[in-house]
Amino acid sequence: MRPAPGPFQVPALAATDPLASDQAALLSTPALGPSGARPAGVSRESGAGSAAELNAVPAGLDPAGSVVDAGRSAVSTGGPSVTVGSTGGATVAAGMQVSRETTPTDSPVSSAIAAPPRVAAPPVESWSLPDPGDDTPLAQELAHDTLRRRVLHGQRLPAPAQTCVVTVANQKGGVGKTTTTVNLAAALAQSGLSVLVIDIDPQGNASTALGIEHHSEVASIYDVLVDGRPMAEVVQACPDVPSLWCVPATIDLAGAEIELVSMVAREMRLLRALKAYLVERTRSGQRRLDYVLIDCPPSLGLLTVNAFVAAPEVMIPIQCEYYALEGLSQLLKNVELIQEHLNPDLHVSTILLTMYDARTRLAADVAAQVREHFPALTLRANIPRSVRISEAPSHGQTVMTYDPGSSGALSYLEAAKELALRGGSDSENNA
Ligand SMILES: Nc1ncnc2c1ncn2[C@@H]1O[C@H](COP(=O)(O)OP(=O)(O)OP(=O)(O)O)[C@@H](O)[C@H]1O
Ligand SMILES: [Mg+2]
Repeated sequence: MRPAPGPFQVPALAATDPLASDQAALLSTPALGPSGARPAGVSRESGAGSAAELNAVPAGLDPAGSVVDAGRSAVSTGGPSVTVGSTGGATVAAGMQVSRETTPTDSPVSSAIAAPPRVAAPPVESWSLPDPGDDTPLAQELAHDTLRRRVLHGQRLPAPAQTCVVTVANQKGGVGKTTTTVNLAAALAQSGLSVLVIDIDPQGNASTALGIEHHSEVASIYDVLVDGRPMAEVVQACPDVPSLWCVPATIDLAGAEIELVSMVAREMRLLRALKAYLVERTRSGQRRLDYVLIDCPPSLGLLTVNAFVAAPEVMIPIQCEYYALEGLSQLLKNVELIQEHLNPDLHVSTILLTMYDARTRLAADVAAQVREHFPALTLRANIPRSVRISEAPSHGQTVMTYDPGSSGALSYLEAAKELALRGGSDSENNA
């Protein structure tokens, strides 16, 4: 009687499977006719037989009489059968006695726990995968990034004629103010310039991203604004990027908005402290700062007003999302008010599009709208939405050191280049 197929037997392959057609072709080979003899060219010398070979029990032999374990052994049940040797004895001869070469028993238990036969993969040439040419969007993007890396890495940017102070502001939260401040600062510093970041947001995110200590015992911008401590005493060097410094913010700053209300010249305190620090650096023979970037909180309170008074330039990061433009008119109105009453030099010099997702039509629409309204202010470089950018702060780093080759880092290098080559802003360019 024909026994039920054991676990050793190779499962039948679907007709569409390339193996199945191999199998069919092999089975129909005249050389495997009644004689069961396999011609030398067909004989497989390797230990792992293909599915075709394993299923190709020659006619004239009782398939029930043998159980084939590919590459290991054949089990004889007494009748004329076939040997599949462990090291290449795969040539089949009709009437040959099967030898048991390795398996000590063919009990149902041992058959059940034995490993299933390995089926060799078809040759790579027969896979129906498309040829990955270099005209796919991904390949094109990779090639483009490689080119950008070559151009941007190691770039040297010209220093501005005098220290350029830029306030990075947008009262809308989570639009990329901090991310822009720290990455742009790092990009400028990596391009040979000397840069200071002033963290004026009680959240202290910029301090975190630059790897700067900012727990409550650390001397910070709070001491400068509220206690009149010299800025030189609270400045810390960024551990990862040479010529990049930071004035950290601690949680104490959360109370500063209220404490400042009753103080003399409350809107001018940052300006005075910064001016004194710049003079002190020159006097003590330290290198001149090329850029000072101030990271604002998402509000238009006294801290932000201090930042607007301390800088002639405002950079506005705009997230490429639907609500991005809401609140922008309020921000521009506030800039005008400060300009009228406190800082006549203040103007919006730069708009940077952040979290740009090239796959969405919405991002393209928002970007087009912003460029249409502010053609001269908007940097050509868009900052892409990128996982590497958002991961970097959790390692106490900017993306510029965390993953310098990523598209996010390259975009910040491009933005830094545009900023530096513009040679500061020109308020007459404003739309
Ligand atoms: N280009 C980007 N790609 C992906 N994630 C980003 C990008 N830019 C910023 N993010 C993430 O978005 C979040 C908000 O960014 P960020 O803190 O820079 O905004 P913010 O305007 O400073 O926020 P806040 O108003 O709270 O100060 C963060 O988690 C940041 O990691
Ligand atoms: Mg922030």
